[in-house]
Amino acid sequence: MPSTACIILAAGEGTRLKSKIPKALQLLCGRPLISHVLAAVQPTEADPIVVVIGAGRGQMTALLQDYQVEIAYQSELVGTGHAVICAQPLLQDFSGDILVTCGDIPLVRPQTLQRLVREHQRTGAAATILTTRCDDPTGYGRIVRDEEGCVQSIVEHRDADEQIRQINEINTSIYCFQAQPLFAALHQVSSDNTQGEYYLTDVIPQLLGQGLPVAAVIADDPDEVMGINTRAQQAAAERVARQRVRQRLMEAGVTLIDPPSTFIDDQVQIGRDTVVWPGAFIRGNTQIGDDCVIGGHTLISDCQIADGVHINHCSVVADSQVGQGVQIGPFAHIRDETTIQRDSYIGSFAEVVRSHLGPQTTDKHFSYLGDARLGSNVNIGAGVITCNYDGRSKHLTIIEDGAFIGSDAAIVAPVTIGKGAYVGAGSVITKDVPAGSLAVGRADQKNIEGWADRRRSRE
Ligand code: UD1
Ligand code: CA
Repeated sequence: MPSTACIILAAGEGTRLKSKIPKALQLLCGRPLISHVLAAVQPTEADPIVVVIGAGRGQMTALLQDYQVEIAYQSELVGTGHAVICAQPLLQDFSGDILVTCGDIPLVRPQTLQRLVREHQRTGAAATILTTRCDDPTGYGRIVRDEEGCVQSIVEHRDADEQIRQINEINTSIYCFQAQPLFAALHQVSSDNTQGEYYLTDVIPQLLGQGLPVAAVIADDPDEVMGINTRAQQAAAERVARQRVRQRLMEAGVTLIDPPSTFIDDQVQIGRDTVVWPGAFIRGNTQIGDDCVIGGHTLISDCQIADGVHINHCSVVADSQVGQGVQIGPFAHIRDETTIQRDSYIGSFAEVVRSHLGPQTTDKHFSYLGDARLGSNVNIGAGVITCNYDGRSKHLTIIEDGAFIGSDAAIVAPVTIGKGAYVGAGSVITKDVPAGSLAVGRADQKNIEGWADRRRSRE
């Protein structure tokens, strides 16, 4: 197979999104648009892959560090044709075919790109355009064909008259070109149009004028080649992308009780027989094991969750690791690099921050554990607070294996509660508690006999 390079046009600001963030960095299903595009291009084995960047240069460069791509810089955003010219110096010695796509077409499948390249190489055309037919072609460039059905030109929506606007076959802005004719034609393109830009689409009539053949491949699924120019298109693409994720997970053996109300990011992995209830958000770099239950209206982001974990209704778990068989919630908040080992139980209205809990530890109701290190089989009573912050810095609380912390105890860090020790309910603990002992840090109870009866008789 002849060699194929790829150019991804991603310099645009995304003016129509009215955002401070450059378009290629806008998120779709939790990942920047450009990452989706690169994921589609990589399986084609195009080499090199040149990304043309402009807006948000620093951020774009940082993100692209993680990919095997070359970066071309377009300092003035004067059109898609000009953007391709900016990539030319990086393809100086390249004479094969060039797949061109855009940073704002995130849903295209690798198979579709591969089909385009194959068709291009089969017909030997100088340019092959990926087109599609859609119900609402508003905003897209239209494919103008002659009586024999041969492509003649692409007319931008803004430059089109009423008759051309009736055409529902659109330019997806994904193409395959022979390198040499492409660059030669690009240098002939003028900016004589409503936007005063150098349009890549204008190479088509240039090539035809030189007697070179131009072909088109029609993509069957218009959703796949949707371009994102507006917030509404972004939302439409988000719907499609999320449905793909849900479909992938269901095919892998995950039960989604109500798929449309379940929001799962692109890279999330979930094991077999896990059940996800409506309204769950599962985000970022999250892996969930087999046989878990993810309750309704839970938010899980950037977590590693082992098998058989139950995260009950309305809990939030972020940046944390949860061991096998753990139960969390309802209404729990776990965050900031907390680790909870197997078979532990965090109940309702518990907040756990930057803490490590050993196995079979329970913390069932209304509590705050911050910067705490708990061993195994610890019991945290209702209302327990680790006072980890003195107004300046955070301090560590250590609670060793088998310790029992009575309800409403305030544990003032830094402090260590030894193995198997008891802390009386309502205690304020400011000193270390030796293993095996009982600490009671509260005023002794005083009973005043007859007090209530005397008061009532006065009334
Ligand atoms: C473009 C096509 C249109 C097609 C549509 C499909 C042109 C002139 N028009 O229109 O026919 O139907 O895509 O989605 O090509 N870019 C740069 N540098 C620039 C200008 C744009 O890198 O100077 C990048 C953008 O970041 C974007 C892509 O090129 O990723 C397309 O640009 P955009 O402005 O979105 O073009 P459309 O108006 O959507
Ligand atoms: Ca676009």
